[in-house]
Amino acid sequence: MRLDKCLEKAGVGSRNQVKKLLKSQQVTVDGRLVRSGSQIADPGLQVIEVCGKQVMLEAPVYYLLNKPAGVVSAVSDVQHQTVIDLIAEKDRRAGLYPIGRLDRDTEGLLLITNNGPLGFRMLHPKYHVDKVYDVEVNGFLAEDAVAFFREGVRFLDGTKCQPAVLEIVSAEETFSRARIRISEGKFHQVKKMFLAYGVKVTYLKRIAFGDFVLEDDLPVGSYRTLTSTEKKILKQYLD
Ligand code: URA
Repeated sequence: MRLDKCLEKAGVGSRNQVKKLLKSQQVTVDGRLVRSGSQIADPGLQVIEVCGKQVMLEAPVYYLLNKPAGVVSAVSDVQHQTVIDLIAEKDRRAGLYPIGRLDRDTEGLLLITNNGPLGFRMLHPKYHVDKVYDVEVNGFLAEDAVAFFREGVRFLDGTKCQPAVLEIVSAEETFSRARIRISEGKFHQVKKMFLAYGVKVTYLKRIAFGDFVLEDDLPVGSYRTLTSTEKKILKQYLD
């Protein structure tokens, strides 16, 4: 949320009063003087003070979900269960949404929050948030696949991707396993990349998104709140 909106919402004053406070250098964020109300601020991640007094506001929530296959990465859907349906009533907040999308048949790590601008920022190409996937395909992944992905895959429709890092875990004629790291988020990107190599993805699971990693002990369909260390990582996207 914008800092001026945040201050208004916390009852610090009217729009004009907040403007004056900012202008007269009465507002700090994490100890730094801030004069612009347009800066994005989050009282859950930062200490916001007015005249030396901390501003209190209900902090946004942040969940890390292990998405099951069959569930859509949307806020609502007439046909399918959504990732928001997996959040328990007590943890629901207005404005909850998933940061980015996984296909319905893809499993794995998805961040869910009600911090409005965060998702847009994390998905912005400027931040190059890497994503790591475990993949199974219906064919043989030869050693040349590593260079094929490193050089930047061209989809069958001509779209060129950024270089990706492929690690082949096992390879047999009709079944191979691999781990892939990509830095973009094109629609069906991983599936289309493997298709361009000549094999079909039969299983896909996201195991990392930037510095966020899916632990083996978080059951499919479950979620947890981000730790305070993880919340600190999010601060870089507010600058
Ligand atoms: N790439 C895909 O093809 N599907 C996903 O769900 C995520 C990345």
